[in-house]
Amino acid sequence: MKIPFNINSRVIDLELKPNETLLSVLRNNDYTEVKCGCNEGECGACLVLLNDKPVNSCQVLAMSVRDKKIKTVKGIGTIHLPHLIQKAFVEAGADQCGFCSPGMIIASYSILKETDNKPTKEDIKRGLDGNLCRCTGYVKIVEAVEKAATLSAEAKTPEAVCSDM
Ligand code: FES
Ligand code: FES
Repeated sequence: MKIPFNINSRVIDLELKPNETLLSVLRNNDYTEVKCGCNEGECGACLVLLNDKPVNSCQVLAMSVRDKKIKTVKGIGTIHLPHLIQKAFVEAGADQCGFCSPGMIIASYSILKETDNKPTKEDIKRGLDGNLCRCTGYVKIVEAVEKAATLSAEAKTPEAVCSDM
């Protein structure tokens, strides 16, 4: 069957099976920026925003997201037009293989939005809880979010404002 999905502000009809997960439908339709790590809700690699809230897409039945807004990391920023958070991750050296980065960026975006760009270290650690990284210690990732928060609070450009969804 086909149902409409609102992905990154674009509505498209996608084919799905009744028991298919959102992660599976996204990846089968070239949204491969959403990663599949554990497929069990444990690693955060498949994180997307669903009506502005971060969810593990491997744990969401695709049929249940009709009429909801889905945002993947590419809806936040791309390699050609990176979001300030993505720039901060690169500058802080917080990405290595990059597999966890899409989920980390989604989680970071949510942290900044929920704290009005003024998260405490505890807010950051709590917000990143559930996002696993096999390459880095988490120190640089936390530093990257702190850096993004500082830049977002200081900058006057629209891309810095985490309320643009
Ligand atoms: S793939 Fe969904 S949480 Fe790991
Ligand atoms: S940078 Fe490789 S898993 Fe996080």
